[in-house]
Amino acid sequence: MKKHYLFLFICTVLFSCSSSKKVRENVDFTEGWKFYLGDDSIAYNAQYDDAKWRILDLPHDWSIEADFSLKNPATPGGGALPGGIGWYRKDFIVDKSDEGKNVYIDFDGIYWNSKVWINGHLLGERPNGYISFRYDLTPYIKVGEKNVIAVRVDNSKQPNSRWYSGSGIYRNVWLVTTNALHVDHWGTYVTTPTVTRDNAEIKIETNIKNSSDLSQTFELYSILIDKDGKEIARINNSESVGAGENVSMGQSLKVSNPILWSIDNPYLYKIVTRIEQNGKVVDEYETPLGIRYFSFDPNKGFFLNGESIKIKGVCNHHDLGFLGAAVNTRALERQLEILKEMGCNGIRTSHNPPAPELLDLCDKMGFIVMDEAFDMWRKKKSPYDYSQYFPEWHERDLTDLILRDRNHPSIFMWSIGNEILEQWSDINADTLDLQQANMVLNFANTLNKKDIDAKELHVNSLLTIKLADIAKKLDPTRPITTGNNETEPSNHIFRSGAMDIIGFNYHGNNWVNFHEKFPNQKLIITESTSGLMSRGYYEMPSDSMNIWPERWDKPFDRPVHHCSSYDNCHVPWGSTHEDTWRLVKNYDHISGVYLWTGFDYLGEPTPFWWPSRSSYFGVIDLAGFPKDVYYMYQSEWTNKDVLHIFPHWNWKEGQTVDIWAYFNNADEVELFLNGLSLGKKAKEKDVYHVFWRVPFHKGTLKAVSYKDGKEVLTREVKTTGDPISIRLTADRQTIKADGKDLSFITVEALDAEGNPVPVADNLINFTIEGDGFIAGTDNGDPTDPNSLKKPSRKLFSGKALVVVQSHKKAGKIILKAISPNLKGDSIEIDSK
Ligand code: GAL
Repeated sequence: MKKHYLFLFICTVLFSCSSSKKVRENVDFTEGWKFYLGDDSIAYNAQYDDAKWRILDLPHDWSIEADFSLKNPATPGGGALPGGIGWYRKDFIVDKSDEGKNVYIDFDGIYWNSKVWINGHLLGERPNGYISFRYDLTPYIKVGEKNVIAVRVDNSKQPNSRWYSGSGIYRNVWLVTTNALHVDHWGTYVTTPTVTRDNAEIKIETNIKNSSDLSQTFELYSILIDKDGKEIARINNSESVGAGENVSMGQSLKVSNPILWSIDNPYLYKIVTRIEQNGKVVDEYETPLGIRYFSFDPNKGFFLNGESIKIKGVCNHHDLGFLGAAVNTRALERQLEILKEMGCNGIRTSHNPPAPELLDLCDKMGFIVMDEAFDMWRKKKSPYDYSQYFPEWHERDLTDLILRDRNHPSIFMWSIGNEILEQWSDINADTLDLQQANMVLNFANTLNKKDIDAKELHVNSLLTIKLADIAKKLDPTRPITTGNNETEPSNHIFRSGAMDIIGFNYHGNNWVNFHEKFPNQKLIITESTSGLMSRGYYEMPSDSMNIWPERWDKPFDRPVHHCSSYDNCHVPWGSTHEDTWRLVKNYDHISGVYLWTGFDYLGEPTPFWWPSRSSYFGVIDLAGFPKDVYYMYQSEWTNKDVLHIFPHWNWKEGQTVDIWAYFNNADEVELFLNGLSLGKKAKEKDVYHVFWRVPFHKGTLKAVSYKDGKEVLTREVKTTGDPISIRLTADRQTIKADGKDLSFITVEALDAEGNPVPVADNLINFTIEGDGFIAGTDNGDPTDPNSLKKPSRKLFSGKALVVVQSHKKAGKIILKAISPNLKGDSIEIDSK
């Protein structure tokens, strides 16, 4: 009897295990890797002894762990970063129940020059640091035994990037298990050839792989599911595929009254692809789908679902400040939330393929993405950059980018390059080396386009055509552009005729009369502004506008490495935020703009150099705190009521201070100092702020905005006393116990009245207890030399940030903040 029960129990367990197993497993493969910073030529061997290596979870960026206070070249601000060579290894066992299955490893991105081995067998190498790729492990897997993946990452040659790249396996890794008959890698392509408000046609192309030794007959289902999980439509067709072969199938579906994807309502359907054999499901694969239509018009700009929309975008680099390049979904989501709040509706993934998580978030949150492939082609911008790999790898890399990303509804444009040096008309074919010249000329010989006379075109125009062709063949539904700082029609990229949209970086003088030189062409400002600001730092008079070259030379030799936050400082090739926006706003033929940049980023601390280590370009600082100009955008880009006055009110008695206000939904703003009116001000035409110049007297500055004489908003800024205590404020006090989620905690110093002290610079030390750890600290100061991993940080302009990350175990996390002369604070975070 007992035996009988035991048998039943085992059966139940076995049955429930096998039935819960999916036909396709996509397992997060980031946990428990071994890491060694250094080189060891035999570490690829399965038997290699890695017992002494450090254990860590991916994503991992080893450069961010280095101490930035060390002088050049080991600082991002020094033009190079702490690179070197690193090795990663991971053991894993493939369950016996997976015998006969296909096993793949998917890397979302490794910076860079990676080589991957399994059980001592070299799978391949990939120089590009931003591209996603897959290796087929199936032939080398030992089922039921230990398998070893080894990865060598070589980021030793520096500098190889114009910005902070990070080093290591800095994006996610997945272990994918499928049956022999399955949807191939990036094997669906879902488009919507016709969309109206009443109807949409959905076209689905599916690439199915049969890695078995027998030919297979199957049924392919494509099922349209809405946001609530309800089935809307389905189609199925039978097909056969030979042993070891692939077959591509086309299907289409119709949906009436589709809910369109838009920036305000980014509604997502999905297509479930199902392969069945004899009524049994052998594979299931999901593709997100946003149904929308769009166009760019030479005179009227961008339209989404028939509605005219100005693209109000930002360029961003991929680093996440204290995390370095290591991707984290919550950190990306927070950035997008802050941007959305400002009214931003577009992201340019400057200047490389982004993390897939960013695109998923843009799909869900409603952003208009320009997905960018390259920062250089054959001509280098840094001594050891991708130009050396371009001849051999550009086809593969561009192809893989488009195959990976073409189902994202948030992507509206492909950019095949940023400020590519080949654009300049004074570079001619003679400067190409033999290999490069052959590559382009071979391509020219294969051109069978009747409308192009290859001999008439410069090789760089031919190369442009080639790249555009690669993208167009894989995705004819999206326009192709490039970011150009040569804005004349003689630009080789423009002369190729391959650009669907002309992309200008800067050169505001050429935007208004664009059609004089580019008749009937479409225009997007791929990059602009490059304003320079340190959050909370002000130089007066605020309306002093230095003109090149004074503006540019000036900051270089000054001891204080900070730039003024009055929108009165920018690079000579850029412009103020207001100047850029005035043109974009007033001219319909300008489809929109991607500002340089949304967030500050590591590296490129223009106009300074070491010891500055991060940029001044952001509308938002490296820690995620908005600079003042953020509210100019909020007042122009949203319908929210806005009233923001600055600067702070802690100055020297009698000093002349300029007070600015950004506001909207109001006719005018009145300013009071200690109850005394300093007058009402209305905005002048095409000016997006008002300002007063007053002698400083301590007390309270109060601004009131009025619409039709009625008060809309009131804001106060007070002269504060000395800081006496610390205040911690978390963006979220409950986080997920998934080992990845983050709570972003703002740190401020308060005076005796409880007012945050805007000029406080106290050093704060943090300790943590419970089921989490300190992922990093920051303050947005581009000159702070301390590692962003340090559990202590000085306040900068009154603020710092400490970020708490959960462990996998649920529980309470207590963060404490202390400082020598201040009363401490603590905060409790629930990790569930
Ligand atoms: C642009 C370039 C960007 C960044 C920017 C700084 O020319 O495309 O990557 O370097 O300048 O102003």
